[in-house]
Amino acid sequence: MNNNWSPSSWRSKPILQVPTYPSQEKLEAVERKLASNPPLVFAGEVRRLKERLAAASEGKAFLLQGGDCAEAFAEFNADMIRDTFKVMLQMSVVLTYGAAVPIVKVGRMAGQFAKPRSADTETIDGVELPSYRGDIINDIEFTEASRVPNPERMLDAYNQATANLNLLRAFAQGGFADLNQIHKWNLDFVGDSAASARYQELAARIEESLAFMRACGIDGDSVNQVKETEFYTSHEALLLTYEEALTRVDSLSGKYYDCSAHMLWIGDRTRQIDGAHVEFLRGVDNPIGVKCGPTSNPDDLMKLIDRLNPENEAGRITLIARMAHDKVHEHLPPLVRRVRDEGAKVVWSCDPMHGNTHKASSGYKTRAFDRILKEVDGFFDVHAAEGTHPGGIHIEMTGKDVTECIGGAQAIGDEDLGDRYHTHCDPRLNASQSVELAFLLAEQLKSDRDANGKKAAAE
Ligand code: PEP
Ligand code: CO
Repeated sequence: MNNNWSPSSWRSKPILQVPTYPSQEKLEAVERKLASNPPLVFAGEVRRLKERLAAASEGKAFLLQGGDCAEAFAEFNADMIRDTFKVMLQMSVVLTYGAAVPIVKVGRMAGQFAKPRSADTETIDGVELPSYRGDIINDIEFTEASRVPNPERMLDAYNQATANLNLLRAFAQGGFADLNQIHKWNLDFVGDSAASARYQELAARIEESLAFMRACGIDGDSVNQVKETEFYTSHEALLLTYEEALTRVDSLSGKYYDCSAHMLWIGDRTRQIDGAHVEFLRGVDNPIGVKCGPTSNPDDLMKLIDRLNPENEAGRITLIARMAHDKVHEHLPPLVRRVRDEGAKVVWSCDPMHGNTHKASSGYKTRAFDRILKEVDGFFDVHAAEGTHPGGIHIEMTGKDVTECIGGAQAIGDEDLGDRYHTHCDPRLNASQSVELAFLLAEQLKSDRDANGKKAAAE
């Protein structure tokens, strides 16, 4: 089926961003343990996500992918999971209203532990140590011992992902996501923001519609979608020893699935066509995200798409564009045109975070909310001009009231960043910025819908 592919064939390819473990023996013991552990996700769920993404590739659904830049062992608790989940539900309601299509919810959750770094080492006050590569690899504490890669951390990551997924499944299907709970998804600390007021207004309208539907005999007992939701997980497939150990053959289809998450993506730094990461992902049947940055070019992108999706199956590939607010108009159109002209079936998603990171005068790594919006606008402009579908959004966000990105209705300034700056890696949108972004996206989606409706009526 997959010529010359096996779960371990990536091992003979050039690889970037890989940790060097001091003991091969300990690493192999962990790999064996992981390989005998149960899968985290199931092939049937993964196939269902692919169907949802296939719809998004045709403009019949919209992908909402979000969560931490890097999940952290120390930040793990039920409230954190619940609050991120709540914000994603809120965003999803707002987006559904604008897009009038189903929103496919995918968390950067329950496995987003490994981080690519621009430098192998970090120097603080003249001391040089190996870079922090995410909690699945080493510890963020700036000491020599903490920064040594420790394979046992893969088992901790697996256990945390298991508990996280267990709670997400309960939230998605156990009553919490019931549309009748819509008012309760609002987080207390965003209670007095403009986005919150808009959200409560929308929630009230939806409640009225639900009451109307109930009167017509349609409720959670007759229609599952009212009382539960689908929620999927994803992370960057960076630490391939971990991904290989969680790869299983599905007994129904005979295909390989990476059962560490429903969807995996390839980062901007590890998308070399002959590299290990592309080799590994070409052989597993999950939906695959591919980050596209300013250095992506149409020829290389088409080669990647062909390698990862030779059958041109819809829902298999999501292209996640992360160009920067001032580059999106220049760099995105050639890629979109080429993919369109080749007839490649993809979801185009917008990551307005990773091209827009800068260092604030206070020294914190931050992102400006208005630049994030500008990139989103640019992404929509390009798709409108090329006649293609803007199919999704990919963001780093949290349900916590952090001060990591500047701007937004709360007008977080450089001087506020130190108040609640908790991220282990990149700055995230907080709950109120996320809901604000959802409203702006909903307006874009609605105006696209109106414009397409007019076009169709005129034809
Ligand atoms: C990320 O999504 O956290 C990330 C590192 O992105 P990119 O590969 O696009 O830089
Ligand atoms: Co990031």
